[in-house]
Amino acid sequence: MQDKPENKHSNAPVWVTGAGGLIGSYLVKTLSAKGIPVRGITHREIELTNCGQVMDAFVKDHPAAVIHCAAISSSVICQQNPGLARRVNVFTTRFLSDIASDIPFFLFSTDLVFDGKRGNYQPEDPVNPLSIYGETKAEAEQYILSNPRHTVIRTSLNGGISPRGNRGFNEEIRNAWKAGKELCFFSDEYRCPIAAKLTAEIVAELLEKQVAGIVHVAGGKRLSRYEIATLLAGIYTDVKPLMREGSLREYKGAPRAPDTSLDISQTEEILGHSIPGLGEWLQQNPNEPF
Ligand SMILES: NC(=O)c1ccc[n+]([C@@H]2O[C@H](COP(=O)([O-])OP(=O)(O)OC[C@H]3O[C@@H](n4cnc5c(N)ncnc54)[C@H](OP(=O)(O)O)[C@@H]3O)[C@@H](O)[C@H]2O)c1
Repeated sequence: MQDKPENKHSNAPVWVTGAGGLIGSYLVKTLSAKGIPVRGITHREIELTNCGQVMDAFVKDHPAAVIHCAAISSSVICQQNPGLARRVNVFTTRFLSDIASDIPFFLFSTDLVFDGKRGNYQPEDPVNPLSIYGETKAEAEQYILSNPRHTVIRTSLNGGISPRGNRGFNEEIRNAWKAGKELCFFSDEYRCPIAAKLTAEIVAELLEKQVAGIVHVAGGKRLSRYEIATLLAGIYTDVKPLMREGSLREYKGAPRAPDTSLDISQTEEILGHSIPGLGEWLQQNPNEPF
């Protein structure tokens, strides 16, 4: 833990990039609710690959910290357009972390930096991404970690209600079911899904504690894709959950990581409380839109 940097500008906001996306939008709400000044930056407002535009806003705001959520977060788009993926996920991250070198900087990364051959990954385990998305995140992580006061947040599948209604894994599934599409879910591919609202609350706590280095922020229970879909089918009672159980063995396509479950015990120790699995969280928060 390190001391809070002195910021001569009182009320300097925490910058949240990607504020028009799923996790960024929850972070803006969470920090605001805690009374922390925050500036949510949407793509429409600032093009983050435009260094001049970013620098002008940074000099004007003198942010107290930066939480960098903006990214090309779709593996499919990264695979189709590796140049764009690198520009946004690597170069933008490097530039932002350079100008924020003396304040806390949190980069959102992914469980997909791992190849998923083993599962239950510790923060210090070696990475081996299988996709362009994972490669760009792994490269960005490495750069961030060269600054000892900066932080990498590795998370897993996040769900919730995104501003455009299509960014959460749950929204994709629900939208497909609404459209009458049948989906196949593998019972041998595992993730640690988490509500984006909970991710935001945890990251706000980590920011307050000024935690640096790699931190795993994921649901406390490893679930197969089929188990995740079964959970959603139980809460989306107004749509017909058209689903069938499948196996990675029948899958043909770009390489997939079978088990990217993340060990969160170090995070729970830092927080001083446990992190529920998605099913438990949904039970504890029945009125939270999801
Ligand atoms: N959600 C998950 O399940 C999950 C899992 C693991 C890791 N992560 C990571 O967590 C972070 C947040 O994820 P998320 O689900 O909130 O992603 P998201 O919903 O896709 O939001 C990302 C935001 O970044 C913006 N953006 C993209 N390129 C930009 C640019 N050049 N300049 C300014 N803004 C730009 C996007 O705006 P436009 O859409 O308008 O382009 C979008 O609003 C990402 O880094 C993601 O890789 C997410």
